[in-house]
Amino acid sequence: MGFKKGQVLEFEVTDLAFGGKGLAKLDGFALFVDQAVPGDQVSARVIKMKKNYAEARILELLRPSGHRIPPPCQYSGHCGGCKWQFLAYEKQLEYKTRHVAESLEHLGLIKDAVVHPALPSERIFGYRNKMEFSCSDRRWVLPFEPAAEDAENDFALGLHVPGTYHKVLDTRACLLQPELGNQLLARVRDYIKQSGVPVYGLRSHQGFWRFLMLRHSVAHDRWMVNIITAMEDRKLLEPLAAELIKAFPQVQAVVNNVTARKAGIAVGEYELNLAGTSVIQEKLGPMEFEVSANSFFQTNTRGAERLYNQVRDYAGLTGQETVLDLYSGTGTIPIWLAGRAREVIGLEIVPGAIADAENNCRKNNIDNCRFIPGDIRDSLGRITTTPDVMIIDPPRDGMHKDVVKQVLAMAPERIVYVSCNPATLARDLGLMKDRYHVVEVQPVDMFPHTYHIEAVALLQTRKAEGGTRNE
Ligand SMILES: C[S@@+](CC[C@H](N)C(=O)[O-])C[C@H]1O[C@@H](n2cnc3c(N)ncnc32)[C@H](O)[C@@H]1O
Repeated sequence: MGFKKGQVLEFEVTDLAFGGKGLAKLDGFALFVDQAVPGDQVSARVIKMKKNYAEARILELLRPSGHRIPPPCQYSGHCGGCKWQFLAYEKQLEYKTRHVAESLEHLGLIKDAVVHPALPSERIFGYRNKMEFSCSDRRWVLPFEPAAEDAENDFALGLHVPGTYHKVLDTRACLLQPELGNQLLARVRDYIKQSGVPVYGLRSHQGFWRFLMLRHSVAHDRWMVNIITAMEDRKLLEPLAAELIKAFPQVQAVVNNVTARKAGIAVGEYELNLAGTSVIQEKLGPMEFEVSANSFFQTNTRGAERLYNQVRDYAGLTGQETVLDLYSGTGTIPIWLAGRAREVIGLEIVPGAIADAENNCRKNNIDNCRFIPGDIRDSLGRITTTPDVMIIDPPRDGMHKDVVKQVLAMAPERIVYVSCNPATLARDLGLMKDRYHVVEVQPVDMFPHTYHIEAVALLQTRKAEGGTRNE
């Protein structure tokens, strides 16, 4: 190729890559540009050269793309919370749909899958029901922020600079959460700063205050405040909890997760209840769910309803079927389908998630779901009945190849595959394509302003279809 590291180039960005970066082809060589969208004419410096691609950083936006819009958040372009605020939402959806379709075609070698346009999120701001803000003893100062006294730079409570674990912004407001979340963030920030007790250093691993997690119940407009600290100190935390409950009637639960582990994960080794309850209630459609600080629950409540409705449509149940739900989490899909199936069996590795699932079934008077604990690689082999419909909703890494083999051996007539990662969706469907036809795929956007996309795929055995092929 005709350029090298450090060189400044002028070119037009022509595409978006999965991961959210702008993409240009120079001399047939792929050049990825952060914070760029198709149609941007940029001057950029090459910062990384690899065998098959290079990366460049924008120095000047010479002519902005017509798809750019003014981002409403002051941290846009600096914050890892969302990376696409400056791209019109319709364009975000268009690119997400394409990523799903192209992944299936290029990675899964599935040529003619029908991929529908992505279903939009009902809300494109204020849609997150859970936020996690990190504490740091060093504030990451942005170019537009006023120079501060040294003491002001010792503290940050906020979101990370993209791709970093130690660069934390002092986030004053995040538009992805409902407005009250920002008031809670401000109140907790003031309390931490006034306490005089040090925040946790992400490099030194010293200090007390670690994370603030906020959860919101959309159905009941109630909040949980979860304060994650390195040690226990009820005397310090209880006045904060009492103040929050008094000042914000919507705050129903204040808990403290305590963790001495170095890993930057906002989950405690144990949890203390500081004020109110230790769970909040949420609804998906007519179903009630109990959500505790560390429960897995989809972060876009309305988006989750849309996703599960799509799963239900593709499952095509009549009330007579046995459904097997692989990777069942806290049981939301089994509970969503229970009214239309004879029985739903969920397989899940986390015992706490199974306990939540069983509890959620009791709460909703559901008695035709059961859950089997353990790694699916082991537990699937113990299922002796062939399900009529199989639901598969794996983590980002997709299915282990042994699990794919077991699914093929079990040979359910219909499979509904739910994925949060188009690349592993394509890989797994590719592994199954000789036996299963990908009938259609519906992407569902749960995360506006990020490149993430969920997709629901309907698969039918070729036997049942009389041998239709994708190739
Ligand atoms: C994407 S979540 C799906 C959760 C659920 N379907 C929902 O919508 O809330 C994936 C789930 O798979 C579980 N999991 C991951 N690896 C597993 C394994 N090897 N065996 C069983 N469950 C696993 C995780 O604990 C998590 O609950």
